[in-house]
Amino acid sequence: MRTSREGGFRVETLIPEERIQARIREMGAQITRDYAGRDLALVAVLKGSYVFLADLARAIDLPLTVDFMGISSYVGTRSSGVVRVTSDLNRPVEGQDVLVVEDIIDTGLTMKYLLENLATRRPASLKLAAFLEKPSRAQVKIPIDYRGFEVEDHFLVGYGLDVDGKLRNLPYLGVLRGGL
Ligand code: IMP
Ligand code: MG
Repeated sequence: MRTSREGGFRVETLIPEERIQARIREMGAQITRDYAGRDLALVAVLKGSYVFLADLARAIDLPLTVDFMGISSYVGTRSSGVVRVTSDLNRPVEGQDVLVVEDIIDTGLTMKYLLENLATRRPASLKLAAFLEKPSRAQVKIPIDYRGFEVEDHFLVGYGLDVDGKLRNLPYLGVLRGGL
């Protein structure tokens, strides 16, 4: 696989841009069929999902709204599942067909909290579209209705995913490699 230097980082391409875009067109077509005749409320999790959201939303041929939620994990020595809402939705989702849009399901703890939180707001339906799933890291089982790709336990960057806030703008998905 191709390795590039991106700023001060060495990144090996895992999924090239063309493959990502082809997969997202398929996901968008599937969502368009599944929700035919309904309006859709996309709820994206900041910040990692913004690239996936932008492409997925444009691959869906339905009337839809977009709203955002900021979530932060309590930082302890290990992933504790203690999660906090840092920025809430602007519009209520009661009675709406909600599709949560997330970059990656890793341990699943963030999404478990978020789905439980959204369920209390009485949406008409609640489903999940995740660009990536790392099943080897799962601590809780999260049912993913629309999944882009399954990936192994690497540290991933690009297509919205960051290292220290950087590399989100790479158009492909890469594995961060040590050393230069
Ligand atoms: P979870 O609660 O462990 O499932 O955490 C998921 C969140 O951790 C994702 O929304 C990402 O923001 C972040 N994350 C997990 N794996 C990676 C990775 O490989 N690269 C960058 N961010 C990641
Ligand atoms: Mg995230």
